[in-house]
Amino acid sequence: MPTERTLAIVKPDAVRARHAGHIIQRIEEAGFQIRAMRLVHLTKREAEGFYAVHRERPFFASLTSFMSSGPAIVLGLEAPDAIRKWRTLMGATDPAKADPGSIRKEFGTSIENNATHGSDGADTAAFELGYFFPGIQFAR
Ligand code: CMP
Repeated sequence: MPTERTLAIVKPDAVRARHAGHIIQRIEEAGFQIRAMRLVHLTKREAEGFYAVHRERPFFASLTSFMSSGPAIVLGLEAPDAIRKWRTLMGATDPAKADPGSIRKEFGTSIENNATHGSDGADTAAFELGYFFPGIQFAR
């Protein structure tokens, strides 16, 4: 399995609820290497840029308000098959539909306040890592 990088976000709901430490522990226990990490409080405009692919969706305004409502933690994760592996660990977008034991099942409270984000493919990962870590030499 090739080594990949993906972007993870511990969203404002999870940081506010002080679940960030638990979630990062779950990330490490699952075998990811943390290659980059920042605490960010996005502006509405930054959240809109990050989620630009969703700009036509009915939930876009609410999503970008939520994502700019408080600090979030953005991480560059590395592992074999990292993109799929992180999505599996997070669980389904809607916590109500997420598998038992998944992070969103444990920490998410609604489809919007779903605790974490992960890139959904290689192109998205490249865009999203570049959005938060422009020009970075990832730590090794
Ligand atoms: P995320 O994986 O960050 O990608 C887009 C986000 O939009 C998603 O998690 C949810 O937080 C949010 N989202 C997706 N679908 C809906 C929906 N139907 N209603 C509200 N928010 C949604």
